[in-house]
Amino acid sequence: MKMDVLLGLQWGDEGKGKVVDVLAPNYNIVARFQGGPNAGHTLEFDGNKHVLHQIPSGIFRNSIKNVIGNGVVLDPVIFRNEIKKLDPFNINFKDNLWISNKAQLILPTHRLLDAAYEKSKGNKKIGSTLKGIGPTYQDKIARLGLRVGDIFYANFKEKYQKLVDAHKTILEFYQHDYDLEEAEKTFFEAVEYLKTFNVSSTEYLINNELKAGKSVLAEGAQGSLLDVDFGSYPFVTSSNTMTAGVCTGLGVAPNSIQKVYGIFKAYCTRVGSGPFPTELFDEDGKELQKVGNEFGATTGRPRRCGWLDIPALQYVIMINGVTELFMMKADVLSGFKKIKVCTQYELEDGTITDEFPYDIVDSEVKPIYEELEGWNCSLDNINSFEDMPTPLKNYIQYIEEKLGVPINLVSVGPDRTQTILR
Ligand code: GDP
Ligand code: IMO
Ligand code: MG
Repeated sequence: MKMDVLLGLQWGDEGKGKVVDVLAPNYNIVARFQGGPNAGHTLEFDGNKHVLHQIPSGIFRNSIKNVIGNGVVLDPVIFRNEIKKLDPFNINFKDNLWISNKAQLILPTHRLLDAAYEKSKGNKKIGSTLKGIGPTYQDKIARLGLRVGDIFYANFKEKYQKLVDAHKTILEFYQHDYDLEEAEKTFFEAVEYLKTFNVSSTEYLINNELKAGKSVLAEGAQGSLLDVDFGSYPFVTSSNTMTAGVCTGLGVAPNSIQKVYGIFKAYCTRVGSGPFPTELFDEDGKELQKVGNEFGATTGRPRRCGWLDIPALQYVIMINGVTELFMMKADVLSGFKKIKVCTQYELEDGTITDEFPYDIVDSEVKPIYEELEGWNCSLDNINSFEDMPTPLKNYIQYIEEKLGVPINLVSVGPDRTQTILR
């Protein structure tokens, strides 16, 4: 019985899709436990690049079951488009994709509400991906939501209409213009399509497999600094992106969780609004964005870039119980002679702290940096930790000492093969 978790430790886009694809052959099940089509997980192999939004990143590995858990919010239209894109790859969805009947459905009006709420916030907007994530989770908690299992019942359209009527009242209040006709038609076609997939109480599937000695990898979406409780609230997503979310998002007991893989970029990025203490507005920031090709996999928006933030990582390692670290995109730092790392923060009143501040949104949090030597050479032909240039070894050791957790994987390029394991 083995349940491991892989989580992003920053503001998302750490490279979770790539690493889940690399690790998947070691597992029997890969399961998404939260989030929805706000995620964009990129996988590269055999010269192809795939971006998955709702389908777990184990889907290209034969004989692995992929589960979309109850903690996920699912858009049937985006789901259908994703499946269609995978057509050429002969994936046997009947055997290797399972959807929880308790996952919440994203309706076309949830997306409209997302847009209306964002517009009403003016320059305080979250920078949402506008996929309807927040409004769908809102309805879940308000006990108004529709679940995937509901689509099989004769009264589904009635239930749908009741919720949509309530949404229309809110949209009117926000004076948000819309035309639903086409979107509704597409939605109901996609719902019919969704009915042809395995929909079940996936908590039984997962627990039965665990009992039978099989292994499960939970694939996080977003990152811990976007967690609705512990992230930079209110500039967060609407789910628990942390280890604890695995239990509620899949229906597994806390004591079934063993390893927690925390994944981070060798620097830091953020897409959308919200605080980012180590954000760079200079040439270094532009260089990170250019070399790292830092543009959102879901929205195409440029990602804000900055140096690694140790206090933020220490914080999320604590709340997640991270047991192993994976460092991504080390190759992006290859051209830098000097690399900075934020080790503490200075608050507005002059206090120096190691803690992730509560009021990170409204008060100024200044990073205090230490500078390390860059390796200033390509990592293209490096295949082992031993072969790494000394400054990279030093960078890894420095981070490990600060974080107290070993770095067991270093990624040096987007392809499956560009992965160095310890
Ligand atoms: P996710 O949301 O955590 O799965 O990450 P994204 O797919 O949104 O963003 C990560 C981006 O970095 C993708 O374009 C990946 O192909 C790419 N990537 C992943 N690992 C590496 C790496 O080690 N080096 C480089 N240069 N790119 C990487
Ligand atoms: P993956 O899984 C990066 C950000 C949005 C916005 C905030 C709220 O690919 O790492 P939402 O649509 O959830 O209401 O947006 O969260 N965000 C992400 N940023 N990667 C993601 O997912 C994200 N999912 C949401 O940009 O700032
Ligand atoms: Mg992403």
